[in-house]
Amino acid sequence: MTDRLAGLVPQPISVKRGRGSLIMSTCPEVQPADAAAQAAAVTVRHLLTGLPWPQPSPFDATQDAPRCSVALDRAMRPEAYRLTIDPNGVTVTAGDESGAAYAVQTMRQLLPDEAWRVAPLPEAANWELPCADIEDGTALAWRGAHLDVARHFVPKREVLALIDAFAALKLNRLHLHLTDDQGWRIESRLRPALHEIGSHRPRSRISLNAEQPRVYDDIPHGGYYSLDDLAEIAGYAGQRGMALVPEIDLPGHSTALLAALPELGSGSAPDGGYQVSPDWGIFNNLVAPLPATMAVLRDVLGEVIAATGAWYVHIGGDECVLDRWRQDVRIEAVRRDRGLATAEDLHAAFLKDVADMLAEDFGVRAVVWDEGFADHGRAMLRPDTVIMAWRGMGVARAAAEAGHDVVAAPVLPTYFDYAQDSGEAEPLAIGGPIRLADVAAFEPVPADWPPAVRDRLIGTQFQVWSEYIPDGRALEYMIFPRACAAADVAWSGRRSPLSEGSPERPGLLPRIAAHLGRLDAAGLEYRPLGGPHPWQQGGTGPRRHRVGYQIKDVATRLSQLAAADSGDDERMSGLTGQR
Ligand code: ACM
Repeated sequence: MTDRLAGLVPQPISVKRGRGSLIMSTCPEVQPADAAAQAAAVTVRHLLTGLPWPQPSPFDATQDAPRCSVALDRAMRPEAYRLTIDPNGVTVTAGDESGAAYAVQTMRQLLPDEAWRVAPLPEAANWELPCADIEDGTALAWRGAHLDVARHFVPKREVLALIDAFAALKLNRLHLHLTDDQGWRIESRLRPALHEIGSHRPRSRISLNAEQPRVYDDIPHGGYYSLDDLAEIAGYAGQRGMALVPEIDLPGHSTALLAALPELGSGSAPDGGYQVSPDWGIFNNLVAPLPATMAVLRDVLGEVIAATGAWYVHIGGDECVLDRWRQDVRIEAVRRDRGLATAEDLHAAFLKDVADMLAEDFGVRAVVWDEGFADHGRAMLRPDTVIMAWRGMGVARAAAEAGHDVVAAPVLPTYFDYAQDSGEAEPLAIGGPIRLADVAAFEPVPADWPPAVRDRLIGTQFQVWSEYIPDGRALEYMIFPRACAAADVAWSGRRSPLSEGSPERPGLLPRIAAHLGRLDAAGLEYRPLGGPHPWQQGGTGPRRHRVGYQIKDVATRLSQLAAADSGDDERMSGLTGQR
């Protein structure tokens, strides 16, 4: 039997090898240890029965199903679990239901790769689990995967397949970026113009921001999730210990919203009115921070929260060029009435208003991109607002020092829309490279931060912005295997050595190599460790590799953004969205 104990992603805290193995060719009989463990046992049974267990011939002597006992131990930390496999059966002891779900994910990684198929093998097979005692738990409470389903829509069935793959890596947040200038992806029964008008555009730009002339594909693009779809996505994720974090990006990145509801705009509308954008970048189309906007937001946020049961909602706050607010007499009057000195202060106040509404009307916590904190909002946001720090660890630290919970999402190395290598073979990407090794070397909680500040760093996540990711195959290519490294780092809270290691703590690369076999069985695409397959390469047409924005340019961009902390919008719009 291959050494599956050496191929786990993320690496458990402790793996003690036992002797022998447990034959496990049929779904085990799952039993709660006591009444308190019933819900956890239901989760374990649900996940285990979903696996494609070998189908014994009806004429074989029937084997007794192995037993799997599930206990809860409230003294264990949330999400922690212990998995004991001996020749007689499996014992799961978990701190909570999520821990029990992760124990199943570890069990699944210890089964043959066929456990990642959808349909069972046609013939009977012997599955075995190696005997072992595994103690495990996470260092970070927020281990996220962000998908931009606004720039290019990702159909529900692909989202569900990705949830399964992310949960396998013990990621616990699915951040769906559901709205942007290029698309509104949420059904609204109260404001149907949003999905009827905002969910599609006639074409998409396929040249990079800096390239002239601009080239478009002239192919209509669109799609949205019904509220029932969102409920299904949230439920499917929840069964796997993963919480959905829906994002409605405000007050900028809102052109699709304004195409549907132009009366919510600020300043003068663009020539020809608001149109769902076929272009990428930063636009100065902002919703007005006025009562009509708040009324629409209450309706739409209420619909999304009711459908998904989300307890965190991301409200954006990034890349806001405030010119149109400054030019709008209604908005200027509101600003003065509220005693706010600048449009920047109003930006922070608006985010606080929406966060207050989320808290007071729905009992939900707001998450914002770090501009909500850093540009103008120091000490102006609700204290419980989570800051998602994308512009580097400097702003992450500042937000943590100010007492906010912070998720580390720095462009380098968590933006997976960046190319995975610098070679010609890579397909078009917005920038890069961000290599697997860069992700593995990420230290999400810097050792030199004071302990009280480190405690505020609640986790990390990767981002997959989709301007140049037109479909599911391209999306999977950009995600895997970097997501394996991100999950390893997020679970341990530390960088992951690529290759050195002991039999007890193998390096990341051999463990990822083992995981790629699982992705093969699941039918998910990825970038092979040695480089893209011929059919994954960019070719010579519009998807060819272009230099884009190399890391040194990104670093320049990041230092510019840090300098623009004062809200230098002109400079910001000059940079037109080169994240
Ligand atoms: C971002 O990349 N605008 C969060």
